[in-house]
Amino acid sequence: MPETLEAEASTTADPAFRADVARGLAQAQPAIPARWLYDTRGSELFDDITRLEEYYPTRTETAIMRDNAHAIAAAAGKGGALIEFGAGSATKTPLMIDALEPDHYVPIDISGDYLRASAADLQKDHPHLAIDPVEADFTKPFDLPDEIAGLTRVGFFPGSTIGNFVPRSATDLLRTFRDILRDGSKLLIGMDRIKDLDRLRAAYDDREGVTAAFNKNLLTRMRRELGAGLDEDAFVHEARWNEMLGRIEMHLVAIRDTEMHLDGQRFAFAKGETIHTENSHKYGPRGARCLLLAGGWTPTHEWTDPARDFAFILAEAQPNRFAP
Ligand code: TRP
Repeated sequence: MPETLEAEASTTADPAFRADVARGLAQAQPAIPARWLYDTRGSELFDDITRLEEYYPTRTETAIMRDNAHAIAAAAGKGGALIEFGAGSATKTPLMIDALEPDHYVPIDISGDYLRASAADLQKDHPHLAIDPVEADFTKPFDLPDEIAGLTRVGFFPGSTIGNFVPRSATDLLRTFRDILRDGSKLLIGMDRIKDLDRLRAAYDDREGVTAAFNKNLLTRMRRELGAGLDEDAFVHEARWNEMLGRIEMHLVAIRDTEMHLDGQRFAFAKGETIHTENSHKYGPRGARCLLLAGGWTPTHEWTDPARDFAFILAEAQPNRFAP
């Protein structure tokens, strides 16, 4: 690519991306926040991941929701407002809407464009559903739309996205959800379970190399958007199980000594050193419930698949109690 094009691209780069990379690479264990994996290319690759043979979570969670739609609706309650944290998947959201028959659907997403496009798609198949999208970062407090004042509220957080937060941040997030939804509300949340380690690793390191391409796209972005000097071929994708922390970690591992240059700074990588790019925490039944409880949510129902690979949990924001 001619240098002028690179220079042009780098001036349009998101300054937050540049700042995060500079800060992340300077750490003792280099790490870059996972949100930067999701540009247009990254989002397409992620979509491909969810359809991979090895990537069981999406299809397992969908099957749990489909097989238990009546029981889920009976336990969560019908009508009211369904509030989804993250604008919906084209499969899971209609499944929950058809089961719970809410009067209002409130998708919350940081990307306004994606939010409006997916709301318009959903409206086509659900002409009578009131859709009130909110463009917001759901990790920070915000107000729900006035349209749903007084309605019962069920939060929806599928995809084991909670597992992408370290437990300390996950409990903060659950507490934020509780502040937003308030006492008496409910939460439907998907969490991936601890299982056979080879199956866990394969889900994040597929044979076709789609997850590897997804991870390595970060290096492409750093080169193209930030004008970083780096050798993409010096890094390979690795999915590691961290036993102590109960999580799959995605890393970009240097396969030889190499250097990166960013805005006059130099970052050296010895062979074997890594950039940590994503976590996916897995929970056993007790761990999942403890996490919810620590975040202010009382689990009341749990659905799983026959192999117990994935859990779909209903929890309630019970009012504070003065005594046991
Ligand atoms: N939350 C899902 C999971 O942890 C989806 C996901 C987030 C993911 N980041 C990922 C899947 C990176 C594969 C690779 O499985």
